[in-house]
Amino acid sequence: MAHPPTVPPPPDRRDFLAQAAAVVIGGALALVAPAAGLFVLFDPLRRKAEGGGAVWVASLAALPESGEPRQFPVLATHVDAWNRTPNVRVGAVFLQRLADGGVRAFNASCPHAGCFVGFRADKNCYLCPCHNSTFELDGQVKDRTSPAPRGLDDLPVEIRPGGEIWVRFQNFRPGEKERVPV
Ligand code: FES
Repeated sequence: MAHPPTVPPPPDRRDFLAQAAAVVIGGALALVAPAAGLFVLFDPLRRKAEGGGAVWVASLAALPESGEPRQFPVLATHVDAWNRTPNVRVGAVFLQRLADGGVRAFNASCPHAGCFVGFRADKNCYLCPCHNSTFELDGQVKDRTSPAPRGLDDLPVEIRPGGEIWVRFQNFRPGEKERVPV
């Protein structure tokens, strides 16, 4: 004898609402979680928060006695809600040994549009390869035709025992005459 066809029960309205809510919440989390990660990853203020803002950059012995600047990467510990990653590159600085025994530091980002500047030993100045801004050893704009609106951004330096050079690293908004921390 043939059985009557099975008719599926009508969907329970509460099940439907629960599933819809799960989809909406899941979607929101999928959007928010990576966004939060990106925020932490690309926010230099958050990155330098560990260690009181100062990061070890180099030792005094790595700087030429002649006073020629040298570029160094700035590494910091990256902390977000899920991970703690040491030695993440957050930028670069130029360090220069001064005659009085101190050290001068500049953020290596060009204040025009953020390219990394280089040091031209043959011309004794900094040069940005993107639009040819030039800067004196003290960071001031050298050539008045340079598009950079301000000089290189100097950064506070501490020389700690053992000749460790620590820099309070900070990025500034490019393209502005005044320094605006970002
Ligand atoms: S980014 Fe350096 S001159 Fe334009």
